[in-house]
Amino acid sequence: MTQDWPRHDMSFLSGHRLRRTRQAEWSRAMVRETSLAPSDLIWPLFVIEGDNEKTAIRTMPGVERLSVDLLVEAARAAREAGIPALALFPNTPDHLRSDNAAEAYNPDNLMCRALRAIKDAVPDIGLIADVALDEYSSDGQDGLVRDGEILNDETVAVMVKSALAQARAGADIIAPSDMMDGRVAAIRAALDENGFEHVQIMAYSAKYASCFYGPFREAVGSGSRLKGDKRTYQMDFANSDEALREIEQDIAEGADSIMVKPGLPYLDVVRRARDAFNIPIYAYQVSGEYAMIEMAGAAGAIDRDAAVLESLWAFKRAGANGILTYFALEMARRLGR
Ligand code: PBG
Repeated sequence: MTQDWPRHDMSFLSGHRLRRTRQAEWSRAMVRETSLAPSDLIWPLFVIEGDNEKTAIRTMPGVERLSVDLLVEAARAAREAGIPALALFPNTPDHLRSDNAAEAYNPDNLMCRALRAIKDAVPDIGLIADVALDEYSSDGQDGLVRDGEILNDETVAVMVKSALAQARAGADIIAPSDMMDGRVAAIRAALDENGFEHVQIMAYSAKYASCFYGPFREAVGSGSRLKGDKRTYQMDFANSDEALREIEQDIAEGADSIMVKPGLPYLDVVRRARDAFNIPIYAYQVSGEYAMIEMAGAAGAIDRDAAVLESLWAFKRAGANGILTYFALEMARRLGR
C-alpha cells in the first residue's frame, strides 16, 4: 500500500534532511551532544538512629531512611555503581530538636556519626554534608527564629559551628542549603582557620521557595513542625536574574560549586547559570519531582523507567555538571550495564 502513496516534490530540501542522522542507533550515538554517566549522579540519603533500621517514607515510594550501619552498605553499593558522592540528611530524633538548634554542632550528632562511619568503611566516596538548621530546630525553619523573624547573622554563627563539626567528622563537601546571606564566606573562613582548606563548599545558591520539597520534609521530619513558609530567605519562583546574582555572590564568597534547586521546573536557571559562569553547576531533582515520576509511573500515566532517564538527561542538556537525584543508585546501575 505504502508505495502507492504520492510523494511531494521535496527537491528544495537537498542538504537539509535532519532525519538523515537519526536513521540508526550508531548514527544517533555519533551525533549525541550530551552524555549521562554514573559519575554525573549524586545520591541523597536520609539517616535515622538505630541498628539495622530502615523506615519507609509515605510520599517517596522506594526511598527509605537508613540507620548508620545500613547507610554504610548503601555507600558501598553506590561506590560499586560508580556514584562519586553522597549527600546526607539526618532525621534528628524529636527530643534533640530545639529552638537554638544546638544539635546541629554536636560532634556526635547523627550526621557526624554517619560521616565518620562511611569515611571509615568507604573512604573513596565523596561525602556532602547538608548545613541548615531545619533538620535540628523545633520549628522546621532553616534559621533561628525570633518573634516570627528568621535571623540571618545569628543563624550563620550556628551554621559555621555545624560545618566545622561536619568537617571534623570527615565531610568532603559542605553544602549550605539555608539561603542566609553571607554564609559561604563565613563557612569558608572558618574552614580555612581550622585547617580544612581542602574541604569544598557546594552552595545551594539558587534555591527557590518551592512546593516540591514536601516529601523531603516528611523524610527528615521537619514538615509537620513548619509554620508558615520559607519565602523570606528562599527565592521567589518568579525570578531568575536574582538567581544569577545569588550565584555570583556565592562564587565571590568562595563557593567551589553551586546548585540550582528544584531541578526540572528550573532548567532555564541552570542554562542561564551555565552560560554566565565557569564553575561546576549541580541541579537537585528534588523529592516532589521524584514523587511525581514514581506516582505517575505507578498510575500507568507514564513509562516510569523512561521518565527517569529522560528527566536526568534533560539536566545535562541544560548544562548541569551533575544531578542530585534519589534515582542515583538505580540509574548508575542501569547506565553501567
Ligand atoms: C533544607 C533542605 C530542603 C531540601 C534540601 N535541604 C527542604 C527545604 O528547604 O525546605 C529539599 C530536598 C528535596 O526536596 O528533595 N535545608
